[in-house]
Amino acid sequence: MKTVKRKKTTQKRRTFYVTTPIYYVNDVPHIGHAYTTVAADVLARYKRLRGYETFFLTGTDEHGQKVQQAAARNGIDPQAHADRMVVAFRELWSRLSISNDDFVRTTDPRHTGVVQEVLRRLQAAGVLYTASYEGWYCLPDERFWTEEEVREGRCPECGRPVEHISESNYFFKMSAYRDRLRQHIRRHPDFIRPETRRNEVLGFLDRPLEDLCISRPRARLSWGIPFPFDKDYVTYVWVDALVNYISIPGYGRDERRFKKWWPADVHLVGKDILTTHAVYWSTLLMALGLALPKTLFAHGWWTVDGEKMSKSRGNVVDPNTMAGEFGTDAFRYFLLREVPFGQDGDFSRKALMIRYNSELANDLGNLFSRTLSMIERYTGGRIPKPNARTQKADDRVLAASARALDRTVAREMDRFSFHRVLREIWTLVDKANRYVDQNAPWELAKDGRNIARLETVLYNLAETLRILSVQLYPFIPETAERMASGLGWTTPMDRVRMPRDNGWGKLKSGRTIQKGRALFPRMENEPSPPQPVPGSQKTPPKEMPMESTGIEPSTISIDAFRKLDLRVGRIVSAEKVTGADKLLKLAVDIGSETRQVVAGIATKYTPDEILGRSVILVANLKPAVIRGIESRGMILAAGEKEVEALATFIESVPPGSRVK
Ligand code: MSP
Repeated sequence: MKTVKRKKTTQKRRTFYVTTPIYYVNDVPHIGHAYTTVAADVLARYKRLRGYETFFLTGTDEHGQKVQQAAARNGIDPQAHADRMVVAFRELWSRLSISNDDFVRTTDPRHTGVVQEVLRRLQAAGVLYTASYEGWYCLPDERFWTEEEVREGRCPECGRPVEHISESNYFFKMSAYRDRLRQHIRRHPDFIRPETRRNEVLGFLDRPLEDLCISRPRARLSWGIPFPFDKDYVTYVWVDALVNYISIPGYGRDERRFKKWWPADVHLVGKDILTTHAVYWSTLLMALGLALPKTLFAHGWWTVDGEKMSKSRGNVVDPNTMAGEFGTDAFRYFLLREVPFGQDGDFSRKALMIRYNSELANDLGNLFSRTLSMIERYTGGRIPKPNARTQKADDRVLAASARALDRTVAREMDRFSFHRVLREIWTLVDKANRYVDQNAPWELAKDGRNIARLETVLYNLAETLRILSVQLYPFIPETAERMASGLGWTTPMDRVRMPRDNGWGKLKSGRTIQKGRALFPRMENEPSPPQPVPGSQKTPPKEMPMESTGIEPSTISIDAFRKLDLRVGRIVSAEKVTGADKLLKLAVDIGSETRQVVAGIATKYTPDEILGRSVILVANLKPAVIRGIESRGMILAAGEKEVEALATFIESVPPGSRVK
């Protein structure tokens, strides 16, 4: 029999291994935990989209003093405490659409066994020794500090009082690796990101490096992994925890699997735990003869309404509450859009509300809903066929922007610059919104001769939205799925691949669309106190005192004019008033609030046509009730009897800007 020799494929499989820190189970998760985990999820989803086989690991750190103390406070044993607390993390990750491939608990035998194996190997390598230690110790942080490091009897890291202790322990010869580590950091510019953090670590390594105490006497702390060769000691919780990054992919258990994943592509950590990763972990890996992770990325910290987040201040942000109020995707979006990854930032409900309403509900949500409404109305609810003969330059701009976006996203994702990725995605959203206004499909629909052009325009919008759904998927997966399926795209998002599926023109004509509910229903702003505007009166004038100006009644003084509070308003919803042909009920966003306005413009405009438009609102007009509906303000338009044209703007202006 003839055997067919197959050519061995030498192409390396593309893999991506990303981790989060493993979180202490001494307390419930907060926004800091959610932040890293959402960021890791975005990377994992993005790499899967790009065809990488991805391993995304998160989990819980269940040993050590903090957990033992928390359990004692609750009057239960530490394992029962951990079993109880881990549920809060698992549930939150499921609520936040976290797509981790595994979940490590450091009390799990597949981890504890590896920690002991690591200790044996370190012992065999001759890098451990016992010594008696006398010095300062921060109990809650479980860290030793030197005389010089302690600040007035307090821990330099957390500020809590340190204790003087004297005990015998196992030490790891960390100091021996200082030069090698410095060299590694210098030679690998991507090893520690961002740059400022890299410099900090190099600065830290300019000073002499101490050895690391890696044991705790059982007599003082019993809740830890026992030393395999000395029953009087348990493993220092940080050594235990760091080993999770290798124990779960198979170190010491499944070498083939381990080789597939190690070294990790990126460990995401908060800035406060960079040293433990960059120094302790790296030197331990060197001692084990293992490669170092390719990147350690340290992100910044969130403050809340400008203040440090802490239990005692009572301002800890519960991610469950935010996801409940704004939705998972909006919360995910905000975390990565608001602050450049790597920098500190401030969280506030107000800022979240503003981004929700303007970027998600208005820009993206409206683009989607108006496009689908027009497809429903003008092309029978099916994706139309684009017509080559009716192509115009602005169509090419849209397609070219979608292609350029792909390149930018790839570049910025590799830099962990999530906020830039989102900003770039929104430039395409903005372009598409402008494209609607410029091409005015409602006008094209009025004349049968323009049908081919109308179909091209609507196809281009649908295809832009579909491409947006792919680019947005890592960030707002549930919404992206709804967008794609609403447009009749049948591949589930977790099977979509770039670049195969995000080339222009892949959306098939003839598919039935499904509008569904709004992607991001607008949320009512909380009433905020009226903002005093320079040059305007604090209370609206009751009447215009024209007579008192002493000049002709047909002119008014500048002061009289200034009493008008004219504002840029964005129409965020529009609907017909039943039984009134001329009236539309509008919701107009004026920055600080959303006004309900009844406007006599229905003879000229359909709700779709004016959705998203910026108009001029007379904001301090006395409220009136029209057809039983309260109207708070008036929008300006030209026309004698009937409205001919709405007053709007050439440039885009933020809602609430003063018009003068
Ligand atoms: N168990 C260790 C990590 C071991 S990793 C091998 C630990 N756990 S933790 O529960 O304290 O979680 C710490 C993570 O939450 C860190 O990445 C830290 O930076 C992050 N945050 C804690 N407060 C934070 C903010 N206010 N803002 C952003 N992240 C914050 O440390």
